[in-house]
Amino acid sequence: MDARTAAVHMLGRVFDGRSLSETLDEVLPSVPTGPEQSLARELVYGVLRWYSRLAALRDLLLTKPLKARDRDIGLLATVGLYQCIELRTPPHAAVAATAEVARRLNKTWAVGLINAVLRRFLRERDALLAAVDSTPATRWAHPPWLVARYQAAWPQHWQRLLEENNRRPPMTLRVNRRRTTPEAYLAQLAEQGIAARPLAAAPDALLLESPLPVERLPGFADGLVSVQDAAAQQAAALLDVPDGGRVLDACAAPGGKTCHLLERYPAIGELVALDIAPERLARIEENLRRLGLAATVRAGDASRPEQWWDGRPFDRILLDAPCSGSGVIRRHPDIKWLRRADDLPALAATQRRLLDALWPLLRPGGKLVYATCSVLPEENERLLADFIAHRPDARMQPLALDLGEARAGGHYILTGEAGMDGFYYGCLAKS
Ligand SMILES: C[S@@+](CC[C@H](N)C(=O)[O-])C[C@H]1O[C@@H](n2cnc3c(N)ncnc32)[C@H](O)[C@@H]1O
Repeated sequence: MDARTAAVHMLGRVFDGRSLSETLDEVLPSVPTGPEQSLARELVYGVLRWYSRLAALRDLLLTKPLKARDRDIGLLATVGLYQCIELRTPPHAAVAATAEVARRLNKTWAVGLINAVLRRFLRERDALLAAVDSTPATRWAHPPWLVARYQAAWPQHWQRLLEENNRRPPMTLRVNRRRTTPEAYLAQLAEQGIAARPLAAAPDALLLESPLPVERLPGFADGLVSVQDAAAQQAAALLDVPDGGRVLDACAAPGGKTCHLLERYPAIGELVALDIAPERLARIEENLRRLGLAATVRAGDASRPEQWWDGRPFDRILLDAPCSGSGVIRRHPDIKWLRRADDLPALAATQRRLLDALWPLLRPGGKLVYATCSVLPEENERLLADFIAHRPDARMQPLALDLGEARAGGHYILTGEAGMDGFYYGCLAKS
């Protein structure tokens, strides 16, 4: 399948509710590897980043609305508009190649329509862009409810957050300190002609100048490095594990933070890596094997400890809770179109249930680090504030984090800060 046709198929699947990562796994294998696959990936990511802006332009350009059964033609128009606006392909070549896709979708009648829409866009581009850019939701291509949430949470920063959500994210590595050092690995990268630099904000991190497939990273299969954003790399230090300590990573798959904890604390007593999704546990095992690490891996619902807990308390708990992902939209642009406003109260209820259930498993004097890749207060600081108001044995512990925005004891890293994903960390100490 060619890249443009594949992009239309993938967009259709995402708008039917499938995640982008599952969709890529399912559809990309039928596109020839090399430049055609790269273009398919670029188109589907790009259209999802800019979807509501592209759709608004398309709707201005259509003389009458498309029928529901011609959703694929509507998506094809957004694929064409994306190329005209964001890619360096000569626009007339992109227009012709995009219109031809209508034929492959068995809709020959739409070849002329797509041609006409895209050609008119090229002629009237400035006026059309000015029209759709007059409201924040279309200008930055976010659903209006989500724009309102960012505005309410970050009155000084919301525009920057929306802009960062639409940028291509960097690829960051985490060096396995049990096998090498960031300095030695940087030298190995340089030998292969791969440009990277250390990050002051994360001592184990190296930021690659351009993303590349992991197979090209020296020693990846032998566990020298992993791919992990520097914001996620803060968790291990914040957990401050004592020698011999027993640690629970309550929502562990695919094991990024589990493995970092084991790399960083060789004298750890035991790390229990729990996840509710049995199929995702295989990813934890795979990462542990590749990195030469060992943990107790369990399938179970963290909010039902009676199903999996052996009754021995933990010195540290990491609750990397399921969340809206409002801090990682630059990596998962489908979040903007798959999440709904009413997911947030449901997520907050789950997060609270997890916190309530895990607290009794922490020994007095122990610490629980709560983390999400969301920058919205209802999933973070508000949740923790309400929790401690009801728990006399819980108090907020200040975090030794030299970045981001401290609020009510917790800490936000705002998307894009020092190249990092958006994240929240809060630490609760038990008396
Ligand atoms: C943000 S991801 C965790 C990422 C992981 N900590 C890492 O660093 O690689 C959230 C995880 O929570 C798991 N999860 C969701 N609800 C859960 C529950 N009730 N009990 C245990 N795990 C749960 C999901 O399956 C998902 O793997």
